[in-house]
Amino acid sequence: MNIQVVILAAGQGKRMYSNLPKVLHPLAGKPLLEHVLATASLVAPKTKPIVVFGHQGDIVQERLQKQPIHWVEQKEQAGTGHAVQQALPVISDDTRVLILYGDVPLISKETLERLLAATPKDEIGMLTATLANPTGYGRIIRDSGQNIVGIVEEKDATPAERAIHEINPGIYVVPATLLKKWLPTLKNHNAQNEYYLTDIISLAVQNKIKIHAVQPALLEEIAGVNDRLQLAVLERFYQKQIAEKLLRQGVTLLDPARLDVRGDVEVGRDVTIDVNVILEGRVVIGDGCVIGPNALLRNVVLGQRVEIKANSVLEDADIGDECVIGPFARLRPEVVLAEKVHIGNFVEVKKSHVGAATKINHLSYVGDADIGVRVNIGAGTITCNYDGANKNKTKIEDDVHIGSDTQLIAPVTVGAGATIGAGSTVAKDVPAHELTITHRLEQRVINSWKRPKKQ
Ligand code: UD1
Ligand code: CA
Repeated sequence: MNIQVVILAAGQGKRMYSNLPKVLHPLAGKPLLEHVLATASLVAPKTKPIVVFGHQGDIVQERLQKQPIHWVEQKEQAGTGHAVQQALPVISDDTRVLILYGDVPLISKETLERLLAATPKDEIGMLTATLANPTGYGRIIRDSGQNIVGIVEEKDATPAERAIHEINPGIYVVPATLLKKWLPTLKNHNAQNEYYLTDIISLAVQNKIKIHAVQPALLEEIAGVNDRLQLAVLERFYQKQIAEKLLRQGVTLLDPARLDVRGDVEVGRDVTIDVNVILEGRVVIGDGCVIGPNALLRNVVLGQRVEIKANSVLEDADIGDECVIGPFARLRPEVVLAEKVHIGNFVEVKKSHVGAATKINHLSYVGDADIGVRVNIGAGTITCNYDGANKNKTKIEDDVHIGSDTQLIAPVTVGAGATIGAGSTVAKDVPAHELTITHRLEQRVINSWKRPKKQ
């Protein structure tokens, strides 16, 4: 029997105090709802998940438009039972419905699979958890035989019921046919005047349908995000999990608590990552790479034995083996470095290809350039790529040596083996193998000149 996931996400998220819908707030760089969708696709790969939306549905749909989702609107938030009811018309009878939440992002595939496995297809499964502080949650009522006989919301609970520590995380698997039979019969005669999904538990008891309870492996899996404090706590928990996974894969982290991964990271052997490093998007780190402190890498591929020194920022870059980058280097999108390239401090490179063993070590801007092998670019060299309207290309062939403080006014080509004297402003193509130098002011010496003295 197929599993149909229904994700409830109609809540407003008032306590976020945000213009951004709650389920779009990022955890590890990815919207909360996307985490749930990713897990849903693992446990129910054959059906499109249903997302019940309410507030700011257009913004949520726009952000997740590339994902296969069946969107269902809940116009007024009349309770969790009412929310699931909105989805019933698009659920087929021969499915088991797995109910998840857009603001409970870390529910794991393993726990859900255990829940599904523990629940025969015509019966009901639910998670429960025992919390030191159960405040706010629905409490699980069991009979003398330890069978679950109901869920009482805190607002409807007697003092004795409130003293129960076993709570309802709100995650269930229920045959579609039972939901279709029961949800239309729910009443909102309770403290909140809401249609409670939890009432299906007492209906199951009345109808002698067995209820199976499974506990999550970790309590963080059932943690909801209602405010930014809870979000921050979950972020730290999640980052710790990622760091531990990397450590177990053989990565050296100088401080596992000071790495942030906001995407997918692939690592080779003997990688070392220093403190306060941020990895975003898709980052591939080859064998033997060393990433220095405070580096930010977004969508970057590093070959083998690359060294990224402190405070460097790399985005959309492809870095060859044994390159040395930084400290304080900035690689902007579309940079490809062949092997053994050195990019030093205060060097910015954008949309350029740099050949093997080329060095750009100090204070330069290189944009829209195609640079050959073994080129040496002196300190303070600038490719003047922008004429105010268009971006123009600079081509620097193999074995060129460019003196410090040179401006290359693009479009321009520097021929192989050429040397450019320091301080040149190059506006025309430079011939191969010659020394090119633009006008320099004559150097004068003023003899016996005295420095002014402080009065
Ligand atoms: C619900 C459960 C409670 C459980 C708790 C776990 C009911 C009646 N109670 O509490 O037993 O301990 O979750 O967190 O089900 N939502 C909608 N539409 C609505 C109402 C809610 O989509 O009309 C969504 C919210 O966006 C949220 C989720 O359902 O993601 C839970 O709603 P919330 O109000 O936080 O939970 P409670 O109803 O308080
Ligand atoms: Ca509520």
